[in-house]
Amino acid sequence: MLNEKIAKLINEQVNKELYSGYLYLDFANFYADEGLDGFAHWYEIQAQEERDHAMMMRRYLIDNGFRVTCDAIAKPDKKLKEMQDPLDAGYEHEQYVTSLINNIYSEAFALKDFKTMQFLDWFIKEQGEEEKNAEDLIKKFKMFGHDAKGLYALNQELGARVYTPSTTGPAM
Ligand code: FEO
Repeated sequence: MLNEKIAKLINEQVNKELYSGYLYLDFANFYADEGLDGFAHWYEIQAQEERDHAMMMRRYLIDNGFRVTCDAIAKPDKKLKEMQDPLDAGYEHEQYVTSLINNIYSEAFALKDFKTMQFLDWFIKEQGEEEKNAEDLIKKFKMFGHDAKGLYALNQELGARVYTPSTTGPAM
């Protein structure tokens, strides 16, 4: 049986992951409106991955006998004006998500909940990748995004991203 405090934290994290997806959909809307369909596509896939994260956590709770609740998902609140704004906001958001996952992990550690620690291992690794991806996007944009040809090429590159459900992550 899962510890109630841990279960509640993971349930809250389900909501945060769905919010992340909602936030990235907002970024996709911004880029779609700017005519950067490749950037929009990249964030549409990112939104899908966030939903997957939520589903993995939901599954873990269900499989451990916890009744999952669906809470209200907050309205995306990042101010987006410049082309680089979603990229900066995305990096900042991923760092925040990392802190949330780390917090659940440390609570599980304190309670000797080794099963949850093992479950969270994948998310710890995933957060490392998500932060790196977000940081890489900023670097690329700084290098190529301020020249029409460079921006066109970057838009093409991001538009080629393919959604593939994780084969290494927890079940959904
Ligand atoms: Fe589910 Fe981008 O962290």
